[in-house]
Amino acid sequence: MQFFLDTANLDQILEVKELGLLDGVTTNPTLMSREGGDWRTQAARICEVVDGPVSLEVVGTTREEMIKEAKDLVSFGDNVVVKIPMIAEGLKALKDLTERGIKTNVTLVFSPAQALLAAKLGATYVSPFVGRLDALSQSGMEGVDQMRTIFDNYGYATKILVASVRHPLHVLETGLIGADVITLPHSTIMQLLHHPLTDKGLAAFLADWEAFQKEAK
Ligand code: E4P
Repeated sequence: MQFFLDTANLDQILEVKELGLLDGVTTNPTLMSREGGDWRTQAARICEVVDGPVSLEVVGTTREEMIKEAKDLVSFGDNVVVKIPMIAEGLKALKDLTERGIKTNVTLVFSPAQALLAAKLGATYVSPFVGRLDALSQSGMEGVDQMRTIFDNYGYATKILVASVRHPLHVLETGLIGADVITLPHSTIMQLLHHPLTDKGLAAFLADWEAFQKEAK
């Protein structure tokens, strides 16, 4: 399973990169606006430090606007993946971008049927938003499971990129389903690392060792 970081924050990106866990980054207009400053400089820097795909999202809502933006976004680096919203105009743009060989990530996907449309049109990634569905008492991961089955039934190469992740259980479920990628907030990666029994166990090992060393003197 590939781990992407769901952020536009450079400190978070560099920290996870140092851990060796960074396979890519996803951004969106909200995450980008949180960083403030000049988004173009920020996007270019992200593309530079990440050795893997970086999703940058269009903000236009017509096919023409999205294609124009996509052409600009890919100039930030060879690793850019253009994020397109799951709307009719987005699908039109997706077809065009696929034909041009531009990598795409269809975002704001909330049903397996939407994912199927994106896969048919050659999306590189499809992003089901699991957390936002869970918040409405609908299982986000159930949809991801169905997407996996549909893509496998037809041999679609589109990668399932689990998004809107809220907690480590989403990571476990992604692995069990066999989705290709998960994009995680920095806080969830840190939660994955820690277990109280690990901390407790290590403290006991070190205390026992120290006592043993004192005895040996
Ligand atoms: C995915 O690429 C999105 O940026 C992200 O996962 C959205 O999640 P949210 O529901 O936390 O905004």
